[in-house]
Amino acid sequence: MPAYPVIGGQWGDEGKGKVVDFLAKNSDCIVRFAGGSNAGHTVINDSGEFRLHLVPSGIFASQASSIIGNGMVVDPDVLLEELAELTNRGVDTQRLYVSQRAHLIMPYHILLDQLEEERRSQGAGAIGTTGRGVGPAYTDKTSRVGVRVGDLLDKDNLKARLTQAMELKNKMITRVYEGEAISVDEVYDRCLTWRDKLEGHITDTEGIIQDTLGEGGKVLLEGAQGTLLDLDHGTYPYVTSSWPSVGGACIGMGVSPNYIREITGIFKAYCTRVGRGPMPTEMLDATEELLREKAGEYGATTGRPRRLGWFDAVAGRYSVGLNGFSSLVLTRLDILDGLPSVKICVGYRTMERELDRFPADTLLLERCEPIYEEMSGWDIPTAGSTQISELPQEAVAYLKRIEELVGCSFSMVSTGPKREETIVLKQLGSDGL
Ligand code: IMP
Repeated sequence: MPAYPVIGGQWGDEGKGKVVDFLAKNSDCIVRFAGGSNAGHTVINDSGEFRLHLVPSGIFASQASSIIGNGMVVDPDVLLEELAELTNRGVDTQRLYVSQRAHLIMPYHILLDQLEEERRSQGAGAIGTTGRGVGPAYTDKTSRVGVRVGDLLDKDNLKARLTQAMELKNKMITRVYEGEAISVDEVYDRCLTWRDKLEGHITDTEGIIQDTLGEGGKVLLEGAQGTLLDLDHGTYPYVTSSWPSVGGACIGMGVSPNYIREITGIFKAYCTRVGRGPMPTEMLDATEELLREKAGEYGATTGRPRRLGWFDAVAGRYSVGLNGFSSLVLTRLDILDGLPSVKICVGYRTMERELDRFPADTLLLERCEPIYEEMSGWDIPTAGSTQISELPQEAVAYLKRIEELVGCSFSMVSTGPKREETIVLKQLGSDGL
Protein backbone atom coordinates (compact mmCIF):
# COMPACT_ATOMS: atom_id res chain seq x y z
CA MET A 1 0.00 0.00 0.00
CA PRO A 2 1.11 3.58 -0.42
CA ALA A 3 3.84 5.65 1.12
CA TYR A 4 3.19 9.40 1.06
CA PRO A 5 6.22 11.70 1.16
CA VAL A 6 5.96 15.24 2.55
CA ILE A 7 8.91 17.21 1.19
CA GLY A 8 10.23 20.72 1.80
CA GLY A 9 10.22 22.64 -1.48
CA GLN A 10 12.54 25.50 -0.47
CA TRP A 11 15.47 25.90 1.95
CA GLY A 12 13.84 24.13 4.90
CA ASP A 13 11.61 25.48 7.67
CA GLU A 14 8.57 25.42 5.38
CA GLY A 15 6.29 24.14 8.14
CA LYS A 16 6.51 20.42 7.45
CA GLY A 17 6.03 19.62 11.15
CA LYS A 18 2.53 21.08 11.17
CA VAL A 19 1.55 19.33 7.94
CA VAL A 20 2.85 15.94 9.12
CA ASP A 21 1.07 16.36 12.45
CA PHE A 22 -2.13 17.16 10.53
CA LEU A 23 -1.86 14.11 8.26
CA ALA A 24 -0.54 11.67 10.86
CA LYS A 25 -3.95 10.86 12.30
CA ASN A 26 -4.74 8.63 9.30
CA SER A 27 -1.32 6.98 9.03
CA ASP A 28 -0.01 3.73 10.44
CA CYS A 29 3.63 4.65 10.40
CA ILE A 30 5.49 7.97 10.20
CA VAL A 31 9.11 7.88 9.08
CA ARG A 32 11.89 10.45 8.98
CA PHE A 33 14.39 9.45 6.33
CA ALA A 34 17.14 12.11 6.19
CA GLY A 35 19.09 14.61 8.25
CA GLY A 36 19.59 14.70 11.99
CA SER A 37 19.26 17.17 14.81
CA ASN A 38 19.99 20.03 12.39
CA ALA A 39 16.21 19.95 11.80
CA GLY A 40 13.77 21.72 14.07
CA HIS A 41 10.11 20.88 13.52
CA THR A 42 7.60 22.91 15.47
CA VAL A 43 4.28 21.26 16.25
CA ILE A 44 1.36 22.90 18.06
CA ASN A 45 -1.54 20.62 18.92
CA ASP A 46 -3.82 19.59 21.81
CA SER A 47 -0.81 18.41 23.82
CA GLY A 48 0.92 21.83 23.59
CA GLU A 49 3.80 23.31 21.60
CA PHE A 50 6.79 21.08 20.80
CA ARG A 51 10.06 21.54 18.99
CA LEU A 52 11.31 18.25 17.59
CA HIS A 53 14.76 17.70 16.14
CA LEU A 54 14.93 13.93 15.66
CA VAL A 55 11.63 12.37 16.66
CA PRO A 56 9.12 12.41 13.77
CA SER A 57 6.31 14.93 14.15
CA GLY A 58 3.88 11.99 13.91
CA ILE A 59 4.76 10.88 17.46
CA PHE A 60 1.50 12.46 18.65
CA ALA A 61 -0.56 9.98 16.60
CA SER A 62 -1.10 7.24 19.17
CA GLN A 63 -2.18 4.63 16.60
CA ALA A 64 1.02 4.95 14.54
CA SER A 65 4.63 3.85 14.83
CA SER A 66 7.22 6.61 14.52
CA ILE A 67 10.49 5.73 12.88
CA ILE A 68 13.94 7.27 12.73
CA GLY A 69 15.01 5.78 9.41
CA ASN A 70 18.34 4.40 8.26
CA GLY A 71 19.08 7.54 6.24
CA MET A 72 19.29 9.67 9.38
CA VAL A 73 22.23 10.54 11.60
CA VAL A 74 21.36 10.36 15.28
CA ASP A 75 22.81 12.25 18.22
CA PRO A 76 21.65 10.05 21.12
CA ASP A 77 21.97 12.89 23.65
CA VAL A 78 19.50 14.99 21.65
CA LEU A 79 17.22 11.99 21.17
CA LEU A 80 17.18 11.14 24.88
CA GLU A 81 16.48 14.75 25.80
CA GLU A 82 13.60 14.85 23.33
CA LEU A 83 12.16 11.55 24.56
CA ALA A 84 12.38 12.70 28.18
CA GLU A 85 10.52 15.92 27.39
CA LEU A 86 7.80 14.14 25.43
CA THR A 87 7.33 11.56 28.19
CA ASN A 88 7.21 14.24 30.90
CA ARG A 89 4.50 16.01 28.95
CA GLY A 90 2.39 12.88 28.64
CA VAL A 91 3.23 11.81 25.07
CA ASP A 92 3.63 8.05 24.58
CA THR A 93 7.05 7.31 23.08
CA GLN A 94 6.89 3.50 23.26
CA ARG A 95 6.20 3.25 19.52
CA LEU A 96 9.32 5.19 18.52
CA TYR A 97 11.78 2.95 16.68
CA VAL A 98 15.33 3.76 15.57
CA SER A 99 16.93 2.00 12.62
CA GLN A 100 19.94 -0.16 13.42
CA ARG A 101 21.39 1.14 10.16
CA ALA A 102 21.17 4.85 11.05
CA HIS A 103 24.54 6.41 11.84
CA LEU A 104 25.53 7.92 15.17
CA ILE A 105 26.63 11.50 15.61
CA MET A 106 29.55 11.26 18.00
CA PRO A 107 31.09 14.01 20.14
CA TYR A 108 34.02 14.17 17.66
CA HIS A 109 31.60 14.90 14.80
CA ILE A 110 30.19 17.89 16.64
CA LEU A 111 33.68 19.16 17.47
CA LEU A 112 34.89 18.68 13.88
CA ASP A 113 31.80 20.46 12.49
CA GLN A 114 32.59 23.48 14.65
CA LEU A 115 36.35 23.44 14.01
CA GLU A 116 35.84 23.15 10.25
CA GLU A 117 33.34 26.03 10.22
CA GLU A 118 35.81 28.14 12.17
CA ARG A 119 38.54 27.29 9.66
CA ARG A 120 36.30 28.10 6.70
CA SER A 121 35.20 31.38 8.21
CA GLN A 122 38.82 32.59 8.18
CA GLY A 123 38.52 32.58 4.38
CA ALA A 124 35.19 33.46 2.84
CA GLY A 125 33.86 29.96 2.73
CA ALA A 126 31.83 29.27 5.91
CA ILE A 127 28.61 27.43 5.13
CA GLY A 128 26.85 28.44 8.31
CA THR A 129 26.09 24.86 9.38
CA THR A 130 23.97 24.20 12.45
CA GLY A 131 27.09 22.88 14.20
CA ARG A 132 25.31 19.64 15.14
CA GLY A 133 27.91 17.30 13.63
CA VAL A 134 25.69 16.32 10.72
CA GLY A 135 28.20 16.87 7.88
CA PRO A 136 31.09 15.01 9.58
CA ALA A 137 28.79 12.08 10.51
CA TYR A 138 27.64 11.67 6.89
CA THR A 139 31.26 12.02 5.75
CA ASP A 140 32.19 9.06 7.96
CA LYS A 141 29.23 7.11 6.65
CA THR A 142 30.42 7.47 3.05
CA SER A 143 34.06 6.89 4.08
CA ARG A 144 32.86 3.67 5.72
CA VAL A 145 34.24 4.52 9.15
CA GLY A 146 30.92 5.52 10.66
CA VAL A 147 29.48 3.91 13.78
CA ARG A 148 25.89 2.77 13.37
CA VAL A 149 23.10 2.75 15.95
CA GLY A 150 23.09 -1.07 15.78
CA ASP A 151 26.79 -1.12 16.78
CA LEU A 152 25.72 0.04 20.25
CA LEU A 153 24.28 -3.44 20.82
CA ASP A 154 27.59 -5.27 20.41
CA LYS A 155 30.17 -4.05 22.95
CA ASP A 156 33.25 -5.64 21.39
CA ASN A 157 32.47 -4.55 17.88
CA LEU A 158 31.64 -1.07 19.18
CA LYS A 159 35.00 -0.70 20.87
CA ALA A 160 36.82 -1.88 17.74
CA ARG A 161 34.91 0.50 15.44
CA LEU A 162 35.39 3.45 17.79
CA THR A 163 39.09 2.80 18.15
CA GLN A 164 39.52 2.57 14.38
CA ALA A 165 37.52 5.73 13.68
CA MET A 166 38.89 7.82 16.51
CA GLU A 167 42.55 7.26 15.76
CA LEU A 168 42.19 9.26 12.57
CA LYS A 169 39.71 11.73 14.07
CA ASN A 170 42.03 12.60 16.92
CA LYS A 171 44.89 13.14 14.49
CA MET A 172 42.72 15.55 12.55
CA ILE A 173 41.54 17.35 15.67
CA THR A 174 45.02 17.81 17.10
CA ARG A 175 47.24 18.14 14.02
CA VAL A 176 45.01 19.85 11.48
CA TYR A 177 42.84 21.98 13.75
CA GLU A 178 45.13 22.20 16.80
CA GLY A 179 42.28 21.16 19.05
CA GLU A 180 42.20 18.77 22.00
CA ALA A 181 41.97 15.03 21.47
CA ILE A 182 38.85 13.20 22.68
CA SER A 183 39.27 10.10 24.84
CA VAL A 184 38.13 6.84 23.23
CA ASP A 185 37.23 5.40 26.63
CA GLU A 186 35.01 8.36 27.47
CA VAL A 187 33.15 8.08 24.18
CA TYR A 188 32.84 4.32 24.67
CA ASP A 189 31.36 4.78 28.17
CA ARG A 190 28.92 7.32 26.80
CA CYS A 191 27.91 4.82 24.11
CA LEU A 192 27.15 2.23 26.78
CA THR A 193 24.89 4.71 28.60
CA TRP A 194 23.12 5.46 25.32
CA ARG A 195 22.71 1.73 24.69
CA ASP A 196 21.14 1.14 28.12
CA LYS A 197 18.60 3.89 27.55
CA LEU A 198 17.80 3.31 23.89
CA GLU A 199 18.06 -0.47 23.51
CA GLY A 200 14.29 -0.97 23.54
CA HIS A 201 13.85 1.42 20.60
CA ILE A 202 16.60 0.05 18.32
CA THR A 203 15.41 -2.39 15.69
CA ASP A 204 15.18 -3.37 12.03
CA THR A 205 12.88 -0.50 11.06
CA GLU A 206 13.01 -1.34 7.36
CA GLY A 207 11.19 -4.57 8.25
CA ILE A 208 8.48 -2.67 10.19
CA ILE A 209 7.91 -0.30 7.27
CA GLN A 210 7.80 -3.08 4.68
CA ASP A 211 5.39 -5.12 6.85
CA THR A 212 3.14 -2.09 7.33
CA LEU A 213 3.01 -1.49 3.59
CA GLY A 214 2.54 -5.21 2.89
CA GLU A 215 -0.43 -5.35 5.26
CA GLY A 216 -2.09 -2.45 3.47
CA GLY A 217 -1.06 0.24 5.97
CA LYS A 218 -0.24 3.85 5.15
CA VAL A 219 3.22 5.24 5.66
CA LEU A 220 3.84 8.95 5.89
CA LEU A 221 7.36 10.09 5.03
CA GLU A 222 8.41 13.20 6.89
CA GLY A 223 11.03 15.14 4.99
CA ALA A 224 13.52 17.37 6.79
CA GLN A 225 15.40 20.44 5.50
CA GLY A 226 14.37 21.29 1.94
CA THR A 227 15.02 20.51 -1.72
CA LEU A 228 17.29 23.53 -2.22
CA LEU A 229 19.56 22.20 0.55
CA ASP A 230 19.86 18.79 -1.15
CA LEU A 231 23.46 17.58 -1.40
CA ASP A 232 23.15 17.00 -5.14
CA HIS A 233 20.35 19.29 -6.24
CA GLY A 234 20.69 22.21 -3.84
CA THR A 235 22.87 25.31 -3.95
CA TYR A 236 26.16 23.40 -3.51
CA PRO A 237 28.32 23.85 -1.43
CA TYR A 238 25.76 25.72 0.69
CA VAL A 239 23.74 22.58 1.32
CA THR A 240 23.26 19.93 3.95
CA SER A 241 24.97 16.54 3.68
CA SER A 242 21.93 14.41 2.91
CA TRP A 243 19.15 14.15 0.31
CA PRO A 244 16.00 15.91 1.54
CA SER A 245 14.31 15.71 -1.88
CA VAL A 246 12.04 12.78 -2.65
CA GLY A 247 14.85 10.68 -4.13
CA GLY A 248 16.32 10.40 -0.63
CA ALA A 249 13.14 8.89 0.80
CA CYS A 250 13.40 5.36 -0.63
CA ILE A 251 17.03 4.93 0.35
CA GLY A 252 16.58 6.64 3.70
CA MET A 253 13.83 4.28 4.85
CA GLY A 254 14.54 1.15 2.81
CA VAL A 255 11.47 0.90 0.59
CA SER A 256 10.95 0.51 -3.15
CA PRO A 257 9.82 3.53 -5.21
CA ASN A 258 6.87 1.32 -6.26
CA TYR A 259 5.19 2.24 -3.00
CA ILE A 260 5.48 6.01 -3.36
CA ARG A 261 2.13 7.51 -4.28
CA GLU A 262 1.37 11.16 -3.83
CA ILE A 263 4.28 13.46 -3.25
CA THR A 264 3.37 16.60 -1.36
CA GLY A 265 5.60 19.66 -1.56
CA ILE A 266 5.55 22.18 1.28
CA PHE A 267 6.22 25.81 0.43
CA LYS A 268 6.12 28.90 2.59
CA ALA A 269 4.23 31.89 1.16
CA TYR A 270 7.64 33.61 1.04
CA CYS A 271 11.20 32.22 1.19
CA THR A 272 13.49 31.80 4.17
CA ARG A 273 17.02 30.57 4.51
CA VAL A 274 19.33 30.08 7.52
CA GLY A 275 23.06 30.02 7.00
CA ARG A 276 24.97 31.20 3.97
CA GLY A 277 24.40 30.73 0.25
CA PRO A 278 22.50 32.43 -2.54
CA MET A 279 18.85 33.43 -2.18
CA PRO A 280 18.01 35.71 -5.12
CA THR A 281 14.81 37.18 -3.63
CA GLU A 282 16.33 38.12 -0.25
CA MET A 283 14.56 41.34 0.83
CA LEU A 284 17.31 43.07 2.82
CA ASP A 285 14.93 45.89 3.79
CA ALA A 286 12.43 46.96 6.43
CA THR A 287 9.82 44.46 5.17
CA GLU A 288 12.24 41.64 5.97
CA GLU A 289 12.60 42.88 9.55
CA LEU A 290 8.85 43.33 9.89
CA LEU A 291 8.00 39.85 8.63
CA ARG A 292 10.80 38.20 10.63
CA GLU A 293 9.47 39.63 13.86
CA LYS A 294 5.84 38.94 13.00
CA ALA A 295 6.56 35.34 12.02
CA GLY A 296 9.28 34.67 14.61
CA GLU A 297 11.64 33.63 11.83
CA TYR A 298 14.53 32.44 13.97
CA GLY A 299 16.14 29.00 13.50
CA ALA A 300 14.39 26.38 15.64
CA THR A 301 17.73 24.63 16.21
CA THR A 302 20.26 27.47 16.45
CA GLY A 303 18.11 30.55 17.15
CA ARG A 304 19.82 32.37 14.26
CA PRO A 305 17.70 34.98 12.45
CA ARG A 306 16.41 33.54 9.19
CA ARG A 307 16.93 35.47 5.97
CA LEU A 308 13.62 36.32 4.29
CA GLY A 309 12.78 36.75 0.61
CA TRP A 310 9.78 37.03 -1.69
CA PHE A 311 8.32 33.84 -3.14
CA ASP A 312 10.72 32.55 -5.79
CA ALA A 313 8.70 30.84 -8.52
CA VAL A 314 11.83 29.97 -10.54
CA ALA A 315 13.19 27.96 -7.61
CA GLY A 316 9.67 26.66 -6.95
CA ARG A 317 9.28 25.33 -10.49
CA TYR A 318 12.69 23.64 -10.21
CA SER A 319 11.64 21.98 -6.98
CA VAL A 320 8.31 20.82 -8.42
CA GLY A 321 10.10 19.27 -11.40
CA LEU A 322 12.76 17.58 -9.32
CA ASN A 323 10.34 16.00 -6.87
CA GLY A 324 7.39 15.43 -9.20
CA PHE A 325 5.05 16.91 -6.62
CA SER A 326 1.43 15.81 -7.01
CA SER A 327 0.20 18.76 -4.97
CA LEU A 328 1.49 21.53 -2.77
CA VAL A 329 0.78 22.92 0.66
CA LEU A 330 1.30 26.65 1.16
CA THR A 331 2.13 27.65 4.72
CA ARG A 332 2.25 30.97 6.59
CA LEU A 333 -0.02 32.84 4.18
CA ASP A 334 -1.24 34.87 7.17
CA ILE A 335 2.21 36.42 7.61
CA LEU A 336 1.68 38.43 4.42
CA ASP A 337 -1.63 39.88 5.75
CA GLY A 338 -1.65 43.67 5.73
CA LEU A 339 1.17 44.27 3.21
CA PRO A 340 0.25 46.86 0.56
CA SER A 341 1.67 44.62 -2.18
CA VAL A 342 3.35 41.24 -2.56
CA LYS A 343 5.99 40.20 -5.06
CA ILE A 344 6.68 36.93 -6.87
CA CYS A 345 9.98 36.28 -8.64
CA VAL A 346 9.20 35.09 -12.18
CA GLY A 347 12.72 35.07 -13.66
CA TYR A 348 16.35 35.99 -13.01
CA ARG A 349 18.51 38.59 -14.70
CA THR A 350 22.28 38.68 -14.86
CA MET A 351 24.50 41.24 -16.64
CA GLU A 352 24.55 38.95 -19.66
CA ARG A 353 21.10 37.38 -19.93
CA GLU A 354 17.73 36.48 -18.47
CA LEU A 355 17.05 33.04 -17.02
CA ASP A 356 13.80 31.23 -16.38
CA ARG A 357 15.47 28.10 -14.99
CA PHE A 358 17.17 27.63 -11.64
CA PRO A 359 20.88 27.36 -12.54
CA ALA A 360 23.15 24.53 -11.37
CA ASP A 361 26.03 27.02 -11.16
CA THR A 362 25.93 28.50 -7.66
CA LEU A 363 28.24 31.39 -8.61
CA LEU A 364 25.84 32.29 -11.41
CA LEU A 365 22.89 32.10 -8.99
CA GLU A 366 24.76 34.48 -6.69
CA ARG A 367 24.85 37.03 -9.52
CA CYS A 368 21.14 36.67 -10.38
CA GLU A 369 18.81 39.59 -9.79
CA PRO A 370 15.14 38.71 -9.42
CA ILE A 371 12.55 39.81 -11.99
CA TYR A 372 9.39 40.49 -10.01
CA GLU A 373 5.71 40.54 -10.68
CA GLU A 374 4.00 42.76 -8.12
CA MET A 375 0.46 42.02 -6.98
CA SER A 376 -1.99 43.78 -4.65
CA GLY A 377 -1.74 42.84 -1.01
CA TRP A 378 -4.79 42.28 1.20
CA ASP A 379 -6.23 44.01 4.27
CA ILE A 380 -8.76 41.37 5.26
CA PRO A 381 -6.78 38.93 7.42
CA THR A 382 -6.35 35.36 6.22
CA ALA A 383 -5.13 34.32 9.70
CA GLY A 384 -7.13 31.43 11.11
CA SER A 385 -9.21 30.91 7.93
CA THR A 386 -10.44 27.36 7.39
CA GLN A 387 -12.30 27.82 4.07
CA ILE A 388 -11.05 29.22 0.79
CA SER A 389 -14.23 31.33 0.61
CA GLU A 390 -13.02 33.26 3.68
CA LEU A 391 -9.88 34.49 1.89
CA PRO A 392 -9.76 37.96 0.32
CA GLN A 393 -9.71 37.85 -3.47
CA GLU A 394 -6.18 39.30 -3.59
CA ALA A 395 -4.89 36.36 -1.51
CA VAL A 396 -6.70 33.91 -3.80
CA ALA A 397 -5.14 35.64 -6.82
CA TYR A 398 -1.71 35.26 -5.17
CA LEU A 399 -2.27 31.51 -4.68
CA LYS A 400 -3.49 31.07 -8.25
CA ARG A 401 -0.50 32.92 -9.69
CA ILE A 402 1.93 30.76 -7.74
CA GLU A 403 0.16 27.62 -8.96
CA GLU A 404 0.42 28.82 -12.58
CA LEU A 405 4.08 29.74 -12.27
CA VAL A 406 5.31 26.59 -10.54
CA GLY A 407 3.03 24.24 -12.46
CA CYS A 408 1.32 22.46 -9.57
CA SER A 409 -1.80 23.13 -7.50
CA PHE A 410 -2.40 23.49 -3.77
CA SER A 411 -4.13 20.80 -1.77
CA MET A 412 -3.88 22.75 1.49
CA VAL A 413 -3.19 26.26 2.72
CA SER A 414 -2.05 26.88 6.26
CA THR A 415 -3.25 30.10 7.85
CA GLY A 416 -1.80 29.76 11.35
CA PRO A 417 0.32 27.47 13.51
CA LYS A 418 -2.54 25.44 15.01
CA ARG A 419 -3.79 22.19 13.49
CA GLU A 420 -7.25 23.61 12.77
CA GLU A 421 -5.92 26.77 11.07
CA THR A 422 -5.83 24.97 7.76
CA ILE A 423 -7.79 25.16 4.50
CA VAL A 424 -8.14 21.74 2.89
CA LEU A 425 -8.71 22.08 -0.85
CA LYS A 426 -8.16 18.47 -1.80
CA GLN A 427 -7.97 15.41 0.40
CA LEU A 428 -4.44 14.05 0.22
CA GLY A 429 -4.11 10.39 -0.65
CA SER A 430 -6.55 8.78 -3.06
CA ASP A 431 -7.73 6.67 -0.14
CA GLY A 432 -8.04 9.60 2.21
CA LEU A 433 -4.77 10.03 4.09
P1 IMP B 1 24.18 21.34 8.37
O1 IMP B 1 23.03 20.51 7.88
O2 IMP B 1 24.15 21.58 9.85
O3 IMP B 1 25.49 20.80 7.89
O4 IMP B 1 24.06 22.80 7.69
C1 IMP B 1 24.19 23.02 6.30
C2 IMP B 1 23.21 24.10 5.82
O5 IMP B 1 21.87 23.61 5.91
C3 IMP B 1 23.23 25.37 6.67
O6 IMP B 1 22.96 26.47 5.83
C4 IMP B 1 22.07 25.17 7.64
O7 IMP B 1 21.57 26.39 8.13
C5 IMP B 1 21.08 24.48 6.73
N1 IMP B 1 20.11 23.63 7.46
C6 IMP B 1 20.33 22.42 7.99
N2 IMP B 1 19.22 21.95 8.55
C7 IMP B 1 18.26 22.85 8.35
C8 IMP B 1 16.87 22.91 8.67
O8 IMP B 1 16.28 22.00 9.26
N3 IMP B 1 16.22 24.03 8.29
C9 IMP B 1 16.83 25.04 7.60
N4 IMP B 1 18.12 25.03 7.27
C10 IMP B 1 18.83 23.94 7.64
